[in-house]
Amino acid sequence: MTTPPEDPKEPHVKRRKLLTFAGLGSLLALAGGLAYKHFSATSQIKVESFLTPGSGRKKNILVLTGSGRRRGNSDLLAWAFVKGARAASHEVNVFHTGREPMQACMHCGGCWTHGKPCVIEDSFDKLFPWLEQAELLFFCSPLYWYNFSGNIKCAMDRMYPYSQKNRLRDMPVSETMLLMCGQSHFLRSFAGPAEAYRQMLGYKHWQDRGRLFVTGVDEYGAMAKDKALATAEEMGRLA
Ligand SMILES: Cc1cc2nc3c(=O)[nH]c(=O)nc-3n(C[C@H](O)[C@H](O)[C@H](O)COP(=O)(O)O)c2cc1C
Repeated sequence: MTTPPEDPKEPHVKRRKLLTFAGLGSLLALAGGLAYKHFSATSQIKVESFLTPGSGRKKNILVLTGSGRRRGNSDLLAWAFVKGARAASHEVNVFHTGREPMQACMHCGGCWTHGKPCVIEDSFDKLFPWLEQAELLFFCSPLYWYNFSGNIKCAMDRMYPYSQKNRLRDMPVSETMLLMCGQSHFLRSFAGPAEAYRQMLGYKHWQDRGRLFVTGVDEYGAMAKDKALATAEEMGRLA
């Protein structure tokens, strides 16, 4: 069998085709990348929420925010909650753990020795009178390293004196709510703090009244106008 003679133009045609395919491939990859960036920044905000409507009785609510970023994503969610709660005539205090200098618990054993829960003199002195009035605690934190922010965790730790046998007073808290937001697109990223929250409630015999997790928010303002704000406001109204 004889092979047909080679077309002298053929190598150039092949190269041109290859270059065209490579160009098209790069364009497609670029468009895909841009589309991914756009959608991951805007449309992948997912909300998982659970809420048990309250009795309708007016109560004293303490909101603990966990971010140092003023009017950041968790702040906007917290304020939506406050708006709803105040509209329902609940009395609401807001403490920004991210903006109040507060030392970590030292486990020094000095709880109640000076007639107040803690011997450390810092902004916990401002927080504890509110804790001693609160019937519902609302924790609102950004997700930091798959956990609560250090600021809000510090405030939680400083509540330790209220679990001591020698306590002089207690917190009237019987119910709590949790709200968290983070950059991750996966709800499972919140599993760690959600489990810690569940165990804490079991230990303190507090009732879980609601949880709201918002994924896919990172940039400053990403939360603005999102439907999650309406969910947070509803949580406040039904607190
Ligand atoms: C120190 C630090 C750690 C973070 N860790 C995580 C994380 O583990 N997972 C995540 O999804 N987002 C993480 N983020 C992103 C924030 O959760 C996200 O930007 C959130 O929307 C910030 O809320 P804020 O505006 O209320 O501060 C982290 C941000 C910071 C500053």
